[in-house]
Amino acid sequence: MTDQDFIPTEYEQENIKGKTTWKAPSNIALVKYWGKKANQIPANPSISFTLDTCATTTSMSYKKLDNPKSDFSFELFFEGRQKESFKPKVNTFFERIETYLPFLKSYHFKIETSNSFPHSSGIASSASGMSALALCLMDIERGFHPEMTDSFFRRKASFLARLGSGSACRSIEGALIQWGHHEDIQGSSDLYGIKYPFKAHEVFENYQDTILLVDKGTKQVSSTVGHDLMFGHPFAKPRFTQAHENLSELKVIFEEGNLDRFIKIVESEALTLHAMMMTSHPYFILMKPNTLKILNKIWAFRERSKSHVCFTLDAGANVHVLYPESEKEKVSEFIEEELLQHCENGQYIQDRLGLGAIKY
Ligand code: DP6
Repeated sequence: MTDQDFIPTEYEQENIKGKTTWKAPSNIALVKYWGKKANQIPANPSISFTLDTCATTTSMSYKKLDNPKSDFSFELFFEGRQKESFKPKVNTFFERIETYLPFLKSYHFKIETSNSFPHSSGIASSASGMSALALCLMDIERGFHPEMTDSFFRRKASFLARLGSGSACRSIEGALIQWGHHEDIQGSSDLYGIKYPFKAHEVFENYQDTILLVDKGTKQVSSTVGHDLMFGHPFAKPRFTQAHENLSELKVIFEEGNLDRFIKIVESEALTLHAMMMTSHPYFILMKPNTLKILNKIWAFRERSKSHVCFTLDAGANVHVLYPESEKEKVSEFIEEELLQHCENGQYIQDRLGLGAIKY
């Protein structure tokens, strides 16, 4: 499919007003997206676990305008309060997707959004937020095109979400989502995320993710700035090649359920992401001393207990602790006894693999 396939034919009949509500999950990348080209095209393919607990719920009320203006018309409420500071991001999103949703300027929207995770927890809400917004908009468009298939609906929602925030295109469905063209992965595309088309061993079912909130401060480097740092980065080319190779290797790992090899790739991807930030210009260290303490303790625990617990990181100091459900009891005990002391105010979020967005 190309961009053109997402431009609708004329709407025959539009609904004058209505309301739609979607809850969209966050996701955690195993192979990281870091570096992008124009129009939110990723520099390398990525794959993620869709989460369950961390999510954004968004309602969109819409009403056709009698006299449409040249600007987008919307109001935005975050956790019950009007939030002017979020509006530019939504406005930019609308500008990027207007070609694909030509009705946007003919309506007034009231957007009400909230997150399941605490505000300023250091958990990025752009993936779940943009995904929830894209799903609401698609629901409105489906009202004009009732014959739209579910698969097209989800695909276009992912396509639109990508234009809001790259990783958001992996937050429509669950539980394992791949985004970005890869020659061995049939149907993969730079334009949208797809459900991983190969077998995943049952050991990955209900995989757990305990998110340790090490530093809840605002991000030192926005992801947009971060992605740009991959331009002219001395290690960019080998890094992008490595992501392709890691995805090829993961195919066998997912099929066989080989957790030792899974851990090697996932932890290496996390450290490579941070290595890219440490070796760019300007350079950043986003891990905190407590992040390192946690990583070392995970390694020591894994060594002595033969557990399959491992970590991954986002572009920040928080740590995602990943482990199979069968090890939940012993890993939870270890987290409680040894890791929570390194979290800000002992805070963490217990999450696990999720099945994707739902409509209310
Ligand atoms: C480190 O999707 O937040 O989480 O496209 O600029 O909105 P934009 O970036 P964003 O980048 C996420 C980067 C990451 C890795 C990942 O999720 O793959």
